Amino acid sequence: MTWLTEVRRQIKLISNKIYLNNASSGPPPENLVSRVCRVIHESAEVGEPWDVFLDTVVDLKRKYASFIGAEYEEISYIPGVTYGLQTLLASLDFNRDSNIVISELNFPTSIVMAYAMKRNGLVREVRMVKDRGGYTDFNDYEKSIDDDTALVMVDYVPWLTGYLEDVKELSELAHRHGAFMVSDMFHAIGVYPVDVKKLGVDAVLTGSYKWLMSLHGAGLMYVNKEHIDRLKPKYTGWLAIEDSVFQRRARGEDEFKRPFKLVDFDYPSTASRFELGTPPIIPVIALYESLKFLMKYDAPGRFGSHTGRNAKYLMDRLEELGYEVVTPRDRHASIITFRHNEPHEVAAKLLKKNIEVSARPGLIRVSPHFYNTREELDIFVDTLKELDGR
Ligand SMILES: Cc1ncc(COP(=O)(O)O)c(C=O)c1O
Repeated sequence: MTWLTEVRRQIKLISNKIYLNNASSGPPPENLVSRVCRVIHESAEVGEPWDVFLDTVVDLKRKYASFIGAEYEEISYIPGVTYGLQTLLASLDFNRDSNIVISELNFPTSIVMAYAMKRNGLVREVRMVKDRGGYTDFNDYEKSIDDDTALVMVDYVPWLTGYLEDVKELSELAHRHGAFMVSDMFHAIGVYPVDVKKLGVDAVLTGSYKWLMSLHGAGLMYVNKEHIDRLKPKYTGWLAIEDSVFQRRARGEDEFKRPFKLVDFDYPSTASRFELGTPPIIPVIALYESLKFLMKYDAPGRFGSHTGRNAKYLMDRLEELGYEVVTPRDRHASIITFRHNEPHEVAAKLLKKNIEVSARPGLIRVSPHFYNTREELDIFVDTLKELDGR
């Protein structure tokens, strides 16, 4: 049996439809489904397996660190990208005369957060680098980032166009000006190889429910250990302190045997300082299982030989039919977007034929994962061709 056949047998959803919508949400593999069901039954019948929960959180962070080339101490669990980013930003000190540089291609969450900071007087200016037609121009970043730039926030793979930003160059540029570099890598991690140290970014966020093929409600954040000491969340919680149940457990100490040190609390020296409250346990267990699945089959490692080639093949086929592909051919992960006059109508018609993609204003977004086959892409393109009468 090939690796692809083995992988596909473990994803129920694809026996019912051609699923090319991983940029919206990824299908859970069977090991996730059975583990989560077992945990829920066990909680109902025997009681909450709290010890297992805590150990899973630690193990998830360990596995994820090795998945993205980081260290365990640099990883924190978060309930989602937006919440994680907010905690991170609330840990940075901003000069009121500083500016934030973002990309127009970013997902809305970092854009509104930057403008809210400006509106609230935390920074003087937000500089938004323009969408040049599905991609950004590095010169625009060079013109925007200066010595007053406190923060650069650029998504590694923008949600609508799939352009692969030059995050390494950008980090270097940001650092030359003393700025902190954050990248939302939701559309890369899981499908595209990511080594955060090589990319040189200061903080990276991702969520569970897309390319990591898990449930909603969890995410992971990396913060380079060089910065952790100076980042102190302005609003904190019982798990973000040095004397927390997690830290006690890690030291082999009973969690509730003595009172906590609260009034003059310290922050832990690790990224645990960004973990404010109880982890979303079921989503964390689900994410642990899906990460095991992705690591077992080396999903990101298949990009060069399989997933990336499929993406190129799809672009070729769409262009042969005369569609205008927005995703840049030379820098992309696995989001392929093309222009369409009736994206919502066509996506609905495709869905009736059991083919799922997503519609966005003026665009159809196709997002195959490592488990998708070339045959599925052919069926999608042939069906589209028929619907559009091309
Ligand atoms: C790039 C990117 N970042 C963030 C989000 C939203 O993240 P969350 O739901 O964890 O707040 C999305 C959702 O589509 C996204 O595409």
